[in-house]
Amino acid sequence: MSPLNLAQEAHVSIPTVKVPPHPKWPELSTEQRNLLKQRIKKLLKEQDAVLVAHYYTDGSLQDLAEETGGCVADSLEMARFGTEHPARTLVVAGVRFMGETSKILNNEKRVLMPDLNATCSLDESCPAALFSAFCDQYPDHTVVVYANTSAQVKARSDWVVTSGIALPIIRHLTESGKKILWAPDRHLGTYVQKLTDADMIFWPGSCVVHEEFKAVALERMHRLHPDAAVLVHPESPESVVALADVVGSTTALIKAVSTLPNREFIVATDAGILHKMKKVAPEKILLAAPTAGEGATCESCATCPWMAMNSLQNLAEVLENGTNEIYISPDLAEKASIPIRRMLDFAKQMKK
Ligand code: 13P
Ligand code: SF4
Repeated sequence: MSPLNLAQEAHVSIPTVKVPPHPKWPELSTEQRNLLKQRIKKLLKEQDAVLVAHYYTDGSLQDLAEETGGCVADSLEMARFGTEHPARTLVVAGVRFMGETSKILNNEKRVLMPDLNATCSLDESCPAALFSAFCDQYPDHTVVVYANTSAQVKARSDWVVTSGIALPIIRHLTESGKKILWAPDRHLGTYVQKLTDADMIFWPGSCVVHEEFKAVALERMHRLHPDAAVLVHPESPESVVALADVVGSTTALIKAVSTLPNREFIVATDAGILHKMKKVAPEKILLAAPTAGEGATCESCATCPWMAMNSLQNLAEVLENGTNEIYISPDLAEKASIPIRRMLDFAKQMKK
């Protein structure tokens, strides 16, 4: 059978995801910003709390996480960091599945998020009941879900993966003769299927932010900057991934900026990542890949509206008021932790 015959997209009617408008945060003067940061630093200390932020959040949150002994990372490292840090409270600046993953792995800890409405289009596209009914139709498949899913969906799976580890895990499962049911990101699924020839059926979900990168506009930009290396997150459409010099997780793309000899880079992922890229390689020229294509309007414009719900202001509020705590029943946490720990153990083995 040719590799193409091994990839099938499921005929499931998934919910349409409503994309919220970008939140408008009031401009802060340098003095206001510094005062707010001091207040948060004090609260973190008093409450034995640590800040865990994703690379797509506002630069001020990323800096604060680093200045206070927390972490700025991709979703795999965010999960791992929470399990290894002794703080009693984890404050997760990112999207809902990241806070939930922290709570699942650390059920005894308090997990807070600046905004509990910060969800993710992939998570929204994969409701647990619909997903579970779908899995029931493929009892002979190993269920692999992307971390960008709810605790219930994780609990129904055999493996959880992030973009940073999807490829070796799917390769491992394929070499063990497994057929794979993959959800929810069809683009990441397509990318790993092509590289592994895995026998896979995909849930038809996608990320609204990465879906907006368009190959034609990217090619045009590359013609204007022929020496630039093209960096693409694998949640992007196949035609965009095909133009990449490097495809990888947020961590892999940041690493590429500091290790590749190119002076210019075209970056196809959420623009929040540019903050860290500029820090690790201030001498490099970073160009945000074009979204939507000529004549079209972009909905997210390469900035995840849910990640943008995190700010210094609402971070200070949750620490002050103890609001926005994530709760997951011990029973659900126990079930959902099994496939996540499988991934973390696999990552540990890979490092040996
Ligand atoms: P990473 O795991 O690569 O950080 O990706 C998470 C994500 O949501 C990207 O859109
Ligand atoms: Fe989800 Fe896409 Fe936002 Fe990442 S960028 S959190 S996949 S909506």
